[in-house]
Amino acid sequence: MLRRPRRNRQSAAIRAMVEETTLSVSDLIYPMFVMEGQNLTTEVKSMPGIFRYTTDKLLEEIAVCQDLGIKAIDLFPQIPEARKDKYASESYRLGNMYLESIHKIKNKFPEICIMTDVAMDPYSSDGHDGLVEDGKILNDETLQILGNMALAQARAGADIIGPSDMMDGRVGYLRETLDDEGFTNVSIMSYTAKYASAFYGPFRDALESAPKFGDKKSYQMNPANTKEALIEAELDYAEGADFLMVKPALAYLDIIKLLNDNFNIPIAAYNVSGEYAMVKASAQNGWLDGTRTMVECLTSMKRAGAKVILTYFAKEFALLKQEK
Ligand code: PBG
Repeated sequence: MLRRPRRNRQSAAIRAMVEETTLSVSDLIYPMFVMEGQNLTTEVKSMPGIFRYTTDKLLEEIAVCQDLGIKAIDLFPQIPEARKDKYASESYRLGNMYLESIHKIKNKFPEICIMTDVAMDPYSSDGHDGLVEDGKILNDETLQILGNMALAQARAGADIIGPSDMMDGRVGYLRETLDDEGFTNVSIMSYTAKYASAFYGPFRDALESAPKFGDKKSYQMNPANTKEALIEAELDYAEGADFLMVKPALAYLDIIKLLNDNFNIPIAAYNVSGEYAMVKASAQNGWLDGTRTMVECLTSMKRAGAKVILTYFAKEFALLKQEK
């Protein structure tokens, strides 16, 4: 045998030397949940280790995260049912809890990159990402609401806005809206290939944002499809997106690779709530080594071509790196 692949695996030094994929904390964006009130922290039942924070508590937690090397967060609001309406008007009401929270984070931690979520669902009494009429999701009417929301977030201090709604044409619409108001430096991380997935369950528990009727199949993509992801990516790229995101991540590594092979802007992967919950649940049962499984999953996303990973594991991974 002239070629013995095991020679390159024989010692820790050689294995480290030939390692092709390295994960660092700066690759990660930490999704965090913020809620109204004061001095409160509540754990999300289906996401052990993940909490909803009132803004004061959130600021404390961000300080801890920053010390661990986390540089970017993605903020999601839990909105009380009483503030929800058909038009998600709470989403751009000046001084609302979410915008105030962004503003405070930016003031206190100017170096932290704040990503915000642009979609109607946490604010919508219908629980959908778009405006509903006669059971249908209206595309073009939704864009205007998303535009108001994105502008309000940019004004509050968002660095990256993340349209997660999957309406057609929203990236171009939001780019123009932001540019017209002078926010040419606010980035857009588009949820480019967002699939209609069962893996979002725990997130909808966290925000109580599940659709009140029907499902999201008329706007989120069919998990069976690949070609559509390319069409979505072509449109988002042409419309000015700065990052293309694939969501969920683990069951869609082929899509991450496809976009990375075809587009010269950074690809992001969203390691979603259900993927987190799966690992946590089996680790709690002693069925899997949670830490090793976490690292293996995140590495697979990076190996597939994701430059950026949004993950609820960000803090745990940062802690692990610090121990080493
Ligand atoms: C909705 C939104 C969802 C997530 C992020 N933004 C859920 C959905 O589409 O219902 C899911 C994130 C996760 O599961 O971690 N705009």
